[in-house]
Amino acid sequence: MSLGTFQISREAADYPPPPSILTLLLDADPDERQVAAHLAHGELHVVRRNGIPVGVVVICRKTVDTWEIMNCSVAPDHRRQGCGTALVRHALDVIGGKGARYAELGTSDASPGPMALYRNCGFYVTGTIRNHFLDNYPEPVWDNGVQCIDMIRMRADILAVD
Ligand SMILES: CC(C)(COP(=O)(O)OP(=O)(O)OC[C@H]1O[C@@H](n2cnc3c(N)ncnc32)[C@H](O)[C@@H]1OP(=O)(O)O)[C@@H](O)C(=O)NCCC(=O)NCCS
Repeated sequence: MSLGTFQISREAADYPPPPSILTLLLDADPDERQVAAHLAHGELHVVRRNGIPVGVVVICRKTVDTWEIMNCSVAPDHRRQGCGTALVRHALDVIGGKGARYAELGTSDASPGPMALYRNCGFYVTGTIRNHFLDNYPEPVWDNGVQCIDMIRMRADILAVD
């Protein structure tokens, strides 16, 4: 699928993935056990430029009408060029194509940038899981120097997204 200038394709969600893809996945979630679990239960979609992976997203089915978007990540040199937005919109297209009604995701309270991206794609906040990053990760998790504490839950109604 081509969204803007980005060619995004589903690729094998084998674990471990190639190192370049694992690096991207770990940038969005530093716990490799969780990355492995997401790949085991999900679909991996990749943006490549000149054959090199520069962005990834994993989607997993949660319920009959809801899929979760996980591990959305873009290589540092390719950020702020619309790639993350293209990945999220692609994920919404794929999820909608499966007949699902909702897409959900969790982000951290220390990540206003990603939250703005998700809002622009039609997501709204549904709740907060207090201390998620303290209770579920063996090491402190940081985003641009700010410690992640709570998980912000967001949802998009596929039928309402442009
Ligand atoms: C979050 C991430 C995927 C965004 O990818 P991207 O390709 O830079 O996103 P886009 O270019 O589509 O950004 C679209 C908009 O989102 C917002 N945004 C994205 N990243 C931002 C940041 N670091 N700071 C502020 N706003 C940001 C901006 O409004 C931006 O529009 P603008 O560039 O016109 O200002 C990327 O920064 C990343 O991989 N981060 C590390 C992994 C991660 O934290 N993933 C999210 C886990 S919840």
